[in-house]
Amino acid sequence: MIDLHCHILPGIDDGPRDWDESIELCRSMVDDGITRAVATPHLIDGVYDNRKPKVDALVEELRRRLAESGVALRIESGAEVDLSSRLVTEPSSDLPALAGGKAVLLEMPVAVIPHAMDEIIFAATSRGLLPVLAHPERNELLQQDTAIAQRWVDAGAALQIDGDSLLGVWGRGAKRCAESLLLSGLVHALASDAHSCKRRPPRLRRALDAAKAIVGDEADKLVGQGPELILQGRCPPTPLYDIGARRGASAGHAAGNLLQRVARQILDRL
Ligand SMILES: [Fe+2]
Repeated sequence: MIDLHCHILPGIDDGPRDWDESIELCRSMVDDGITRAVATPHLIDGVYDNRKPKVDALVEELRRRLAESGVALRIESGAEVDLSSRLVTEPSSDLPALAGGKAVLLEMPVAVIPHAMDEIIFAATSRGLLPVLAHPERNELLQQDTAIAQRWVDAGAALQIDGDSLLGVWGRGAKRCAESLLLSGLVHALASDAHSCKRRPPRLRRALDAAKAIVGDEADKLVGQGPELILQGRCPPTPLYDIGARRGASAGHAAGNLLQRVARQILDRL
């Protein structure tokens, strides 16, 4: 699996505190089935000043330490860039694009949708960048109207949802929104957004199973073809996965749940 979004570099955001925690987290990602991960520390102007030269240097160091430790995880450079960062709208060689390519991971706020959202997407695409919106399902306004996401995708953005949202870690609203976006065919990548082995461990395999229960086995593309295209700077197709399989799997999933509930009620009465 390719993990497009995780916090694995030490001491530069709210991820691992030191190299030991960093290596331990990478090891648990390998155990989870992740083969390639993009290090995406927060980049917030004046708070987390994680520009490209700094991130690249730490990624290089992490690669060296992983090789020494025998951890077979391929690491790419990147960042989770605050939507209001000037680096998104102003040309700069300091922007840590994903794997040094054209895609830039943009952090969706949880409580608001910025007024300038459409302009930010336009500014990024106008510069030849591929904006990838990180965990839109955790946004409380989008949870009330998932149709807004269609406009962002139409404008040229790709969507990445967090595995933890599908597992209910971020509450019922985020879970439902993630499921709705999946069923709408608007999701291009599923990522761990892992921060540490204890607080927010990698649970991408379980999340992928949850996605498969909703859209079928084609969900594999959310940790394969989708992230792969994004790392090449190409926007994945929408939908990324087969619509027919999606509907069939969804209907089967719903019918299966209904049968389970009925069976449980009958057993309870016996
Ligand atoms: Fe993140």
